[in-house]
Amino acid sequence: MLRNYYQDLNVLNVNTIPNRAYYIPSKPGNISDQKTNNDSVMLLNGDWKFKFYKKVQDFTFDIDQYDTIPVPSNWQMHGYDAHQYTNVRYPIPYNPPYVPKENPCGLYERTISIKDKESNRFFLNFEGVDSCHYVYINDQFVGYSQVSHSTSEFDITNFIQNGDNKLQVVVLKWCDGTYLEDQDKLRMSGIFRDVYVLVRPKEFLFDYQIKTNITSDNTATVCITMNDHETKLQKKIILADTNHTIISELSTSECKADIIVNNPILWTAESPYLYYITFETENEVITDTVGIRTIAIENSIVKVNGKQVKFKGVNRHDSYCDTGYVASLERITADLKLMKQHNINAIRTSHYPNRPELYKLCDQYGFYVIDEADIEAHGTITMANPANHDLYADIANNPKWTNAIVDRIEKLVQRDKNRPCVIFWSLGNESGYGCCFREAGKRVKEMDDTRIVHYESMVIPEAEKAKGTEKFEVIDVVSHMYPSLSWLENDFIGNPNENRPRILCEFAHAMGNGPGDLNRYYDLIYKYDNFCGAFVWEWCDHTVLVGEKNGKSMYHYGGDFGEFPHDGNFCMDGLVYPDRKPHTGLLELKNAARPAHIHYKNGKFQIENKLDFTNLNDILYLQWTIKQNGNVIQSGEIRALDVNPHETTELPIELQQLSGGRVYIKFDMISINETPLVEAGSVLGFEQFDLSTEEYQQDLPTIGGKLFVDDGKTHITIKGESFTYRFNKDAGSIDYIDLLGNIILNKSIEFNLYRAPTDNDMYSKKAWIEDGFNRTNPYTYDITVSEVENGIAIHCPLSIQAVYLANLCEIESVWTVYNSGAINVTLDVKARDNMSYLPRFGLQLMLDESLSNCSFFGYGPHECYVDKHTSTYKDMFQSAVPNMHEDYIFPQENGSHYDSEYVCLTSDKAKVEINSCNNHFSFNVSPYTIEELANKTHNYLLEKSGYTVLNIDYKMSGVGSNSCGPELEPEYRLSEKKFKFEVNIIPTLK
Ligand code: GAL
Ligand code: MG
Repeated sequence: MLRNYYQDLNVLNVNTIPNRAYYIPSKPGNISDQKTNNDSVMLLNGDWKFKFYKKVQDFTFDIDQYDTIPVPSNWQMHGYDAHQYTNVRYPIPYNPPYVPKENPCGLYERTISIKDKESNRFFLNFEGVDSCHYVYINDQFVGYSQVSHSTSEFDITNFIQNGDNKLQVVVLKWCDGTYLEDQDKLRMSGIFRDVYVLVRPKEFLFDYQIKTNITSDNTATVCITMNDHETKLQKKIILADTNHTIISELSTSECKADIIVNNPILWTAESPYLYYITFETENEVITDTVGIRTIAIENSIVKVNGKQVKFKGVNRHDSYCDTGYVASLERITADLKLMKQHNINAIRTSHYPNRPELYKLCDQYGFYVIDEADIEAHGTITMANPANHDLYADIANNPKWTNAIVDRIEKLVQRDKNRPCVIFWSLGNESGYGCCFREAGKRVKEMDDTRIVHYESMVIPEAEKAKGTEKFEVIDVVSHMYPSLSWLENDFIGNPNENRPRILCEFAHAMGNGPGDLNRYYDLIYKYDNFCGAFVWEWCDHTVLVGEKNGKSMYHYGGDFGEFPHDGNFCMDGLVYPDRKPHTGLLELKNAARPAHIHYKNGKFQIENKLDFTNLNDILYLQWTIKQNGNVIQSGEIRALDVNPHETTELPIELQQLSGGRVYIKFDMISINETPLVEAGSVLGFEQFDLSTEEYQQDLPTIGGKLFVDDGKTHITIKGESFTYRFNKDAGSIDYIDLLGNIILNKSIEFNLYRAPTDNDMYSKKAWIEDGFNRTNPYTYDITVSEVENGIAIHCPLSIQAVYLANLCEIESVWTVYNSGAINVTLDVKARDNMSYLPRFGLQLMLDESLSNCSFFGYGPHECYVDKHTSTYKDMFQSAVPNMHEDYIFPQENGSHYDSEYVCLTSDKAKVEINSCNNHFSFNVSPYTIEELANKTHNYLLEKSGYTVLNIDYKMSGVGSNSCGPELEPEYRLSEKKFKFEVNIIPTLK
């Protein structure tokens, strides 16, 4: 019954009117650009009748029983069909333009009440329907359209009558467009954005395009081109400033108008100044905002308003765990607020046009945008085994697809062309290159010559590439994903054969615990003029919230829906959890992108402005504090920071002569002004410097009553004045600590080489498991006990072994127990040569659960690693043990504290202090065991161990971003073959 448009590459839109700029008209008496309380808009959101069909063949209009579904929504969020999460692989067989016969289908129905049909025209708009839709009014076919994330508009004037009309929309899950919508996301269907009828006069302004120029004498021209369907409609154009003070007013029946603005206030993401423009025609007013700004590339440098800018970006999807693709304005605003608060100034709308209002909010709040077309054909490369990039050509270089691809580009550019925030048009993602994209690029330039064309996927078949003739001329900026630091610097930024600006549309894959090294990528952004910025992959974890268990939200990901194929938890790779709680990776990004850098050289501090347009005086002041051993000894404020963009000034700070202990100075950058998204007084970033002049001397109390030692067959028992310890001869470690009846340890301390793999360990972990790091046992040799000053020493040589493997480590261990009860453990470790680097090396103590309070001196307050501690600083911190677990939805190693010097766990009665005379260490403390974190698939399934699990590591390897990025940099791996680890364990009663 449905015409087969959905499997026909030559039919993309039937009876839609041409694409135009997004705007919302209104009536003269009540001027608005909103969809509610607007006489020009009949918003059709709300409950619709709904009928779901498992396959389109079953579809019929002839039904008596309907369900109800909210519009906008995805039907999978309302119990129909099922979710699927697939990344590269298509959810359907590759057989374009055909899609499976079992093609789920939804019939939506509601009534629309029309009045004054005679004096108006009526336009039905859909801002987003996945994947295609057929529209019927009063049983007549109105039209068809596809492209899920773009607007379709139908002139329904001739289909309606005054009074009630029946509107029906048939939505199919798959169409030929599915082959171009293979974005890495949860696959969902239905009408997921606003639907409305615009009630417009018979003659109206159909479209307009606004461009802005700035001339050297400080005037700007706002150049307007209009499309009034050649009606010579009289249009009054008013330009007003941000306070609605009119700057210019003119009337014209022509379709071009230039407005001169003297001393314009320019738009930038740092100062998003907007003018108001209104177009008044006889019975209608369109109101919009204008940002005056220019975009240019000069000498490989991207410039806004003639100044070099850096994009500190993230990739954003319209994605929410409880509403699917439905992005409310409140939710979008909350996302933008969080981004601003974390120093993000740019968004790539991966990989499709986001909800249209997002761009207006970006104009208003100040974000630069890479606006991407709804195109990804990644699955072409996996249509045959093995995956092969040459296969991209099946679509990218196939003229049959040109119209479909160009249509998507037109829909993108036409809709968003008036948004000042849009700096780049992106031709899509991961689809390869060929004739279709060449046409698309040309078409963009015809439509808009003011913006930069971006497209990362400059991929052509190897044989073509070898010819060296393809120059990708329609692309203005060279883009890449997930490079290693050295490749990025030497081969990409440093490529002498390329003179286009460089950008990373994706880097720092933020999956799970990570990403590492953000600050070093940022160093390169600042170092090279031709490298204009980088966008973290990605903003949010994609999941579906399905309920609650054990007091936690149950978030489901790929595979939890019984689907095939699926890509597991690869969809949870955001900087924020699904509920928008920041991951520690977002905190890292915030400080990597801080507005200023502080340098410390020869006893002097300097501040460098990292912004592109704003004097530091206008945005922040400094609060500084010097702490010695965690106590404040000096502090102050620096208010006068007259530092222009990219410039550096010395800071007026006189340091007292300091000696002894751990001395650190920390500068907090505090925002001065209340802005719509950032409160005055917020910390925008910080820097810390170590001013210590000497290594801190750790306490190791040795004096106490006499020790009684019983060297038994399996154990050595050591009794002191207020404690009994036991050394386990097979475990090669202490297995019992009793403080006058308070047993705080009753399991042997273990030598530990393993961590619960992080997402970023997904490749390294194979070697770790093959090398047996997760299943080690100690094997002890001859144990001797000797007396030392104020104590006894147990000398225990041992090996770390694993079944069928040669010994992993040989360790000379000495456990010295002092009369005071303090224990010193010294381990001389030799690791086997031919094995992988170690995730960590350390001791694990299963302490009594009552030791649930932790204070420590190290990097904090949150988790940090050798390559992920830009957002942490050294200080004395205090926390309850359960709060030191970072609750990744997919459980993994978390909560480590890099470069620590002191840890103290306390209960009501006892305490255990950890320090070291010779080395700093990493530690984590958690209610969960490594095995529990390694084996459970969801955080809501985690069970507490009943212990306080303390891991003290000689070193913990870094986290990196290898889940979809370079291998962990060698310098962050624990690959030492010979090292000495020393730690003091000091249990006492309180
Ligand atoms: C990129 C792709 C993204 C996402 C990411 C991995 O290749 O463009 O859409 O799939 O990898 O999370
Ligand atoms: Mg992809």
